[in-house]
Amino acid sequence: MRSVGDLRSLRACVRAWKQEGQRIGFVPTMGNLHAGHFSLVELAHRHAERVVASVFVNPTQFGPNEDFGRYPRTLAEDTVGLIEHGCDLLFAPAVEVMYPGGPEHTLKIHVPDVGDTLEGAHRPGHFDGVATVVAKLLVMVEPDVAVFGQKDWQQQLLVRRLVQELALPLEIITGPIVREADGLALSSRNRYLDANQRARAPELHATLEWMRSSFAEGHVRAAVEGAAVRRLERAGFAPDYAAVRRAMDLAIPAEGERTGLMALVAARLGTTRLIDNLCFD
Ligand code: PAF
Repeated sequence: MRSVGDLRSLRACVRAWKQEGQRIGFVPTMGNLHAGHFSLVELAHRHAERVVASVFVNPTQFGPNEDFGRYPRTLAEDTVGLIEHGCDLLFAPAVEVMYPGGPEHTLKIHVPDVGDTLEGAHRPGHFDGVATVVAKLLVMVEPDVAVFGQKDWQQQLLVRRLVQELALPLEIITGPIVREADGLALSSRNRYLDANQRARAPELHATLEWMRSSFAEGHVRAAVEGAAVRRLERAGFAPDYAAVRRAMDLAIPAEGERTGLMALVAARLGTTRLIDNLCFD
């Protein structure tokens, strides 16, 4: 695996592969890679001869009181893991490469509607930072296919909308959530949890399962959501939301709408904010 940090080397490498007729798969990450990320690398390899992964802790998608400063930076371990999982090229740019004028002076891309609800409402500016950095990365890497994880369901919807509106010539693929044996979705932020919090964390997934069965039994959306919030509170979480939404656009389902739905939750355990989701069908 080659590892580069500048645009010129990145483009030379990718364009040489393209000239040989090889398809390029891309997996953008913020590093601190785990089995969930590696499953995306493997998925990318099923769609492309060459796989590029990026590691960049993007400052513009963190709010002023969020964990940008302490976000785990583990580039040496990430590099080993990417090699083991067949990645062909690691792009690990410095902030100056992604934001030549400084992150505070960057252009911003806002994706309305799907970017304004749930995570967008609870983390103001977060999705502008995500949309901006993903657009930059896609323009830089020029992949044929890019892979995003289902754990960030709203993010992958937002990226799909971005790609569609900018008419970027690539396919977006969504890889399934990878979970621990007890149901906790893998996340770089799980490492912030102490032993007590870790023991309680699977309740997030259990609540999603409960929302699915409760909704299937015929309970109305608002009742399911309210009961899910209370259930999380009883387990020691401070929930931001527990929502039943339309999977394709995160709109609130009409009364009587029962298919194509999903549940999404975001909640804090201590200072750690976790998100998860579950499709109902
Ligand atoms: O999902 C992530 O890790 C990040 O939001 C992404 C897509 C790499 C953009 O910084």
